[in-house]
Amino acid sequence: MRSRKKICAGNWKLNKSPSDTRAFLAEWSSVAQPAEGVEVVIFPPAYDLSVFSEKAGSIKFGPQNICFAKEGAFTGEISPDVVKSMGSTYALIGHSERRTIFGESDELIAKKIQAALAAELIPMLCIGELLEERKANKTEKVLLRQLREGLALVKEHFTGAKGIVPLVVAYEPVWAIGTGLVATPEQAEEAHAFIRAQLNELIGTDDVSILYGGSVKPDNAAGLRAKPNIDGFLVGGASLKVTDFKGILGVF
Ligand code: PGA
Repeated sequence: MRSRKKICAGNWKLNKSPSDTRAFLAEWSSVAQPAEGVEVVIFPPAYDLSVFSEKAGSIKFGPQNICFAKEGAFTGEISPDVVKSMGSTYALIGHSERRTIFGESDELIAKKIQAALAAELIPMLCIGELLEERKANKTEKVLLRQLREGLALVKEHFTGAKGIVPLVVAYEPVWAIGTGLVATPEQAEEAHAFIRAQLNELIGTDDVSILYGGSVKPDNAAGLRAKPNIDGFLVGGASLKVTDFKGILGVF
């Protein structure tokens, strides 16, 4: 059995200019290197990717969103092929802010996953339930729909895939994002185990890194990381400061 990658990813959202990015990367490289065997990934705003192209060092990076098309009449969009040529490894797809604020549907997300794989980017598919869905005991139903529909166009990429499966799933309960209300390790583990079982059904492998996201901080990361199905984190606010992000990396 292949071993799953451990990943500590930062989602900067709409924060940091190119000069802020240069300062972050300079500070990052001046402090001790991360624990061996953990992949560090950052998703900066698209205009900061060129700084990562030059200065990322061992950090992997990618855009927070891509277009389903690689070029053409798509005003305001981000080409998967161009961000790949800039050195991106991953593309974040289906983040809850894209779904809820910008109206992205599961159908559109499926096309973006397909476009990412066509550009040889590893899609990091974000899924997660709203608070009312959790309260109504609909968490598993929502996660299954987001997984099934998000992966609907790409099954063939995974069946019989050799080496590392080119897919990462981030479980981010929407009620935990940016709220300080982190899921308990037990709640997160329950969702991760469910997602892993469903991936086995849907794409014939459960050998996919599944990250937890939603108010991860240096002081709550260790309890989550200890759970067997939590392979790493997708960190928003606490990825903006080198000391906080390094603190989270310290629990791997
Ligand atoms: P947060 O964001 O860590 O600030 O809650 C996580 C995310 O949105 O990916």
